[in-house]
Amino acid sequence: MQIVKTIPALQAALKIWRQAGEIIAFVPTMGNLHDGHLKLVEDAKNRANRVVVSIFVNPSQFGAGEDFDSYPRTEQEDQQKLQEIDTDLLFMPTIAEMYRPNAQTVVSVTGISDQYCGASRPGHFSGVATIVCKLFNIVQPDIAVFGEKDFQQLAVIREMVRDLNMPVDIRSVATVREASGLAMSSRNNYLGAEEKNLAALLYQSLCTARDAVLTGNQANSEIERQAMCFLQGAGFQPDYFSICRRQDLRAAAPEDAELVILAAAKLGKTRLIDNISFMRQLQ
Ligand code: PAF
Repeated sequence: MQIVKTIPALQAALKIWRQAGEIIAFVPTMGNLHDGHLKLVEDAKNRANRVVVSIFVNPSQFGAGEDFDSYPRTEQEDQQKLQEIDTDLLFMPTIAEMYRPNAQTVVSVTGISDQYCGASRPGHFSGVATIVCKLFNIVQPDIAVFGEKDFQQLAVIREMVRDLNMPVDIRSVATVREASGLAMSSRNNYLGAEEKNLAALLYQSLCTARDAVLTGNQANSEIERQAMCFLQGAGFQPDYFSICRRQDLRAAAPEDAELVILAAAKLGKTRLIDNISFMRQLQ
């Protein structure tokens, strides 16, 4: 596995592959790699001749008082994991490599970024869209692979790619879960043992809500209210719990068949997000 830290070194490696007509898939990450990330790399390998992974803890997607400084950084372990699964190239730029000191341009995907995590974390999705746009311009991949765990992020990136005619095929991979149902996330490292057991209730609440939607006896607003109460009672500070239509994340209406329930809740100091996607039969 080649490890490069600068844009010119990355582009020199990419040029050789591109000239040989090879298909390049890209997996952007912030490191602290777990099985969820490795699934993305495996998926990318199945779709392309070459796989590039980036590790960059992107400061512009963290708000003031958020966990940028404490975000887990495990470079050695990450490199070993990527090596073991035959990643072709790891790009690990510094902040100075990625951001010019007086950069004036940000990418903002309005509408879809404004609700849910975007409402609780102002500026977060423009930080994500800006860095992903920059990484796409630098790597120019044919394919980029993202996890469905960050469902709203995936929707924002798909929207950006469509709106800006970016020539990259966005693919997504299902969330990888612990045996308890807890979605794998680097932020799970912040949870104590007892919190980690409790955290699995977030996914349970999503499964219960999905079953209630499919049964069809209750209004979505009532299902959402009950889920928020359940989470609160279990010791979470729920942020949102929303039954949405998958295509644009607007509140689901009775005629929508492809649904996703999005949820975010704090457990102690840890902010957890999760979602469940499903189809319902329309009468
Ligand atoms: O999902 C993440 O790890 C990050 O938000 C991403 C897409 C790598 C952008 O920094």
